[in-house]
Amino acid sequence: MCGIIGYVGGRRDAGFLVIEGLKNLEYRGYDSWGVAWKEGRKIAVCKETGKIGCVDAAKIAKEGNLAIAHTRWATHGGVTTENAHPHLSCNGSIAVVHNGIVENYEEIRRDLIAKGHRFLSETDTEVIPHLIEEEMKTTGDFAAAVRRACLKFEGRFAVLAMHAESGTLVAARTGSPLIVGVGDHEGYFIASDIPAFREHTSTVQYLDDGEMVVTDGRSILFSDLKTGAEREKREIEITWETAQVQKGKYAHFMLKEIMEQKDSIARAVNQDEGEIQTLAEAIRAAQGTFLSGCGTAAKACMAAEYFFSVIAGQHVNFAPASEFKLFHRFLKPQSLLIVVSQSGETADVLEAMKVAKSKGAKVLAIVNTEGSTIAREADYTLHINAGPERAVASTKALTGQMAVLMLIAYAMIGKLPKGRTRLLETAAAINDMLNPRYTSFIESLAEKIKDDKDLYIIGKSWNYPMALESAIKIQEVSYVHAEGFAGGELKHGPIALIEEGTPCIALVGNDEVRTDIINNAIELKARGGFIIGVAPERHAVFDEWIKVPDTDTAQAIVNIIPIQVLAYFLAVKRGKDPDMPRNLAKSVTVK
Ligand code: M6R
Repeated sequence: MCGIIGYVGGRRDAGFLVIEGLKNLEYRGYDSWGVAWKEGRKIAVCKETGKIGCVDAAKIAKEGNLAIAHTRWATHGGVTTENAHPHLSCNGSIAVVHNGIVENYEEIRRDLIAKGHRFLSETDTEVIPHLIEEEMKTTGDFAAAVRRACLKFEGRFAVLAMHAESGTLVAARTGSPLIVGVGDHEGYFIASDIPAFREHTSTVQYLDDGEMVVTDGRSILFSDLKTGAEREKREIEITWETAQVQKGKYAHFMLKEIMEQKDSIARAVNQDEGEIQTLAEAIRAAQGTFLSGCGTAAKACMAAEYFFSVIAGQHVNFAPASEFKLFHRFLKPQSLLIVVSQSGETADVLEAMKVAKSKGAKVLAIVNTEGSTIAREADYTLHINAGPERAVASTKALTGQMAVLMLIAYAMIGKLPKGRTRLLETAAAINDMLNPRYTSFIESLAEKIKDDKDLYIIGKSWNYPMALESAIKIQEVSYVHAEGFAGGELKHGPIALIEEGTPCIALVGNDEVRTDIINNAIELKARGGFIIGVAPERHAVFDEWIKVPDTDTAQAIVNIIPIQVLAYFLAVKRGKDPDMPRNLAKSVTVK
């Protein structure tokens, strides 16, 4: 969703700093961008629709030690320059950028118009600078005015406001994330995401929900948004390096992250044994264990339903986070909700956690992003340690999530070492598999099917969620119509879609359901399907065979990887940018 960054401090090139920082947030997905900087006692603004990538920051923002910037992912109002942030107050001395939604903005806007305020955009955001301006008439103090305004807004949001006259930066959050970067030189950054300022500092302070922060670049003050009571904040050192958020030798982050999986899976497996064992016991003791997440993370949850069933003989219930609240009747104080999220900021997941907590249930979070809201609000947290994932399409996070969930399933039957060994062997097998010959073969396959308009993927058991995941991956980066099915469901409807030459991918393992899924592939072939088998062993039904290592219970982890590579090459060959798919955002912080 929207990316936010602000800076105030000793440097005179604040505008340049925030535009460069914004470029590091491009991966979040956006359709327009803008920057405001202090120029003398005034605020200068530059806003554009489209991408920021090639903009020469030095040419736009000149002198000034205070600036804010924003990438907008349109919700209220179309993609236009007027709707891009920052938005200004009538007197031009307050500029605001915002992430989230001000749900009661229509009412506030009507009131402000009646008081003489003039609006230039269709956004909910624009009420913020105007209401702050209005509140300043009462308090005379910028920070107090921001507080009073924020308390009138409904919804989940993060606001960053600058004031030219006092040279102050104020941020408030009631949902969407905000992090302070303590500058190595004098000054502070405030951003929605650490990569925005990582090259300038590794010391951060997290804002919690319902908190506010005020800084003039020399000192910083955290407080409770409602009461104004001062809050102590710990400084935390980030462990990952700037290089981890750069593409290196790869053309795209997506490919880089796919290739990293040999290492990231091994890192995911490297968990504290005692902690995994405790969580395994908590699942055994729980009266109802639920799994929830969104998109790709939801597919990891679905795969885990099979891990828990086949490996541990344990019943767990999956629901997509956006549907979870409808099952609140089944939650008790003894229930356990396991949420899975790469970003740790997904609004629907936070909502599911809220529902579980309201029933007294405990929450275990499996996340990638350290310090994220989900990580901090859960009762127990496990990190998958995949390192920053920049491409919108989630790849290495998925396999890390599945590895951790599988490890817990093994721990439940007292076989944690066996699970660990299996997963480490899987990581090693992936290392061998992802060689240049292998990826070129998949590239040639992408060339063959790149102009087909439909693509179907089938799987059974844990390969069924991987068929669904394959479809997401292909859809989101290549825009090819792809759909995943449980192989057995074909004859109940979807098989009517198969025509002569329709590409169909079958995800196969050397397991108890191998014969079933091969039979489903044969049914597809009989209707003209062009069968691509992803399997440890060749079969006569395959027109093309993508060989994968036989990794037993970890087959789902291995089978999805060639499809990630295929999705990547389909995107590239169709002239799409796999790192920045249209209409999508990396972390979805609105419901
Ligand atoms: O950050 P999260 O794991 O909570 O994100 C969940 C989904 O938004 C995410 O997996 C999305 O589906 C990806 N674009 C898929 O590649």
